[in-house]
Amino acid sequence: MDEPKRKTVLSAAQTTGILTIGNYLGAIRHWVRLIEDHECFFPLVDMHAITTTPYLPAQLRKNTRSLAAQYIACGLNPQKCTLFIQSHVLGHAELAWILGCMTPVGDLQRMTQFKDKIEKGAPINSGLLFYPVLMAADILLYNADMVPVGEDQKQHLELVRNVAERLNNTYSKTFKVPEPKIPSTASRIMSLQNPGRKMSKSDPNRASYILLTDDPDQIRKKIARAVTDSGREVRPGPDKPGITNLLSIMSGFLEISLEACAARFAGENYSSFKKGVAEVVVDGLGPIRTRYQEIISDPAYLDSVLKAGAEAAQKRAFRMLNKVNRKVGFVERFP
Ligand code: AMP
Ligand code: TRP
Repeated sequence: MDEPKRKTVLSAAQTTGILTIGNYLGAIRHWVRLIEDHECFFPLVDMHAITTTPYLPAQLRKNTRSLAAQYIACGLNPQKCTLFIQSHVLGHAELAWILGCMTPVGDLQRMTQFKDKIEKGAPINSGLLFYPVLMAADILLYNADMVPVGEDQKQHLELVRNVAERLNNTYSKTFKVPEPKIPSTASRIMSLQNPGRKMSKSDPNRASYILLTDDPDQIRKKIARAVTDSGREVRPGPDKPGITNLLSIMSGFLEISLEACAARFAGENYSSFKKGVAEVVVDGLGPIRTRYQEIISDPAYLDSVLKAGAEAAQKRAFRMLNKVNRKVGFVERFP
């Protein structure tokens, strides 16, 4: 009897440096579970990364390899999933072009992430506007069923679904309409310095985030300096954004509820609570940091993983690209 076909999962993070615990708790940690019984693709999206200008080419190259090592260190075993560099696979940009021709500009201008960038006064290149279309291509090229992401990507995913449906309706059913999968806990880890903002590695204030490679000392210092709220009680709640954030971090690492985390600190003050959270993070990141150092100092291993990943991904990508080219009316390529 045939085995039931495994569902396809695809997700990605921009190759802009070392991941934060926000990326880990909101995204990667969930991917690690999915590789056991899904067919998983994890492109390292270097083509998305160049929308942030200016950037240093040598740094981008370094970041891309580093991200691959971080993924593996977090538990994305390359024997069980396809890890590859987006720019190594032909088809992402080509499919994005076709999808772009079916996407109203207004839909792209409405994206919060795009509007935020405008507000911040960043230089706006067309790639930044087109960003979600490239993201749609990443997903639809592999006909993914499911896209596990943090809360902040929900709107982009909605756009991806609309694009898929539009192409299916205009031509004929080509793409699966992918489902977003957003974790219920720790789906949005906030800045340690401003719990009203998302924790982000692009934040100029280094004290606002914890990186996967931070050492125990840095972790303890950053958590000790984290902004807390008025009152003394350790409990989650809308009036306690700072404490709730620290509880979310703890709950993410320990995989227990916010309330269960808070209960451990009943009657204790903020300072001992912060010490407790710091130790949980130190313990959680320790093995990841060690493994990362091993992998990043073995470039031959990393190359072999990325080469095999790109080959596997390219086969899939060409299959879908040929299909879409035919549907939209391009003359078939000569063999
Ligand atoms: P990015 O680094 O923005 O490319 O994000 C990579 C993945 O991490 C996406 O699935 C995001 O939703 C997730 N992510 C990024 N920042 C956070 C955060 N502060 N909390 C939770 N998830 C996040
Ligand atoms: N836009 C995503 C982010 O900033 C990164 C991304 C690019 C992505 N392509 C994707 C996420 C495909 C999921 C699927 O986090």
